[in-house]
Amino acid sequence: MSRRGRAATEASEAAAAERPRVRLELPASHPHTGRPVDGVALLTLDRPEVLNALDSETMRQLVETLERLDVDDATRCTVLTGAGDKAFAAGADIREMADATPVSLTIANSFARWERIRRIRKPIVAAVRGYALGGGCELAMACDTIVAAEDAVFGQPEIRIGVIPGAGGTQRLTRALGKAKAMELILTGRNLPAREAEAHGLVAKTVAREETLAAALELAGTIASMPPLAVMAAKEAVNRAYDLPLEAGLEFERRNFFLLFASEDQKEGMAAFVAKRAPEWKGR
Ligand code: CAA
Repeated sequence: MSRRGRAATEASEAAAAERPRVRLELPASHPHTGRPVDGVALLTLDRPEVLNALDSETMRQLVETLERLDVDDATRCTVLTGAGDKAFAAGADIREMADATPVSLTIANSFARWERIRRIRKPIVAAVRGYALGGGCELAMACDTIVAAEDAVFGQPEIRIGVIPGAGGTQRLTRALGKAKAMELILTGRNLPAREAEAHGLVAKTVAREETLAAALELAGTIASMPPLAVMAAKEAVNRAYDLPLEAGLEFERRNFFLLFASEDQKEGMAAFVAKRAPEWKGR
């Protein structure tokens, strides 16, 4: 390579290294109309040159941004997507991980970030185009619901590189698909196309590729227009369905149902229904 060519490559690598790995747009703008989608933040994993592989810096930026949005009154729902044409995210960054040891992984403790995603209280909608593999599939499943493009593929291919899913894949995929299908996928590393993922309940809906972001933002916009306290309570209660025995889950649901009767939004919602007018939510 010529000296000038080398300099250009080095400059573009330096720019890529400095560029934020997670882009935030708040409020998000609708891709077709350009109008802001009220209450919705759009987060984009932005390393398309490596199919948005999730290195530790990307995960740090993602989790810190999600936590910031979680306490921001202007945000009621987030859409998470991947930059470029090919991927939501093709997994943890294999180059970064290749030389890890049990000791280095324990000391870095970077997988603890995934726990922090689980504690986000406002809903997150994944808009998945292309590959959602390994950590990418795990990240989509850590969101609250998934809107997928027809060309989306999900999968846990870790077995093919000598490991197993490490950020929830064996647990969440099994809960989403059932044991037989999860075993088939995790033991072979086979990819699951979007339509099949939808048929098995992993994906809420599958849409044409060019409609994916719009569909996810519209879903998020509808969620954002609902009373925020009830939205957070509903998210938490549905997630408890994974963790609790039925009796404890029902008890959790009932207590939160009762608790919402202390909110102004419950009084407003029911009064508006009776008066046949639109409710005005206060988030209190
Ligand atoms: N980590 C690092 N780099 C990755 C990556 C990853 N997970 N996935 C893709 N890339 C990089 C490639 O190395 C390549 O970079 P270069 O141009 O510098 O070579 C670039 O992205 C484009 O990828 P490909 O040329 O491979 O694109 P393709 O279209 O031929 O194949 C693919 C696409 C099938 C998704 C293939 O890239 C692939 O198999 N990726 C790895 C998928 C995987 O194994 N994910 C699991 C990771 S482990 C994990 O996630 C553990 C966990 O549970 C947390």
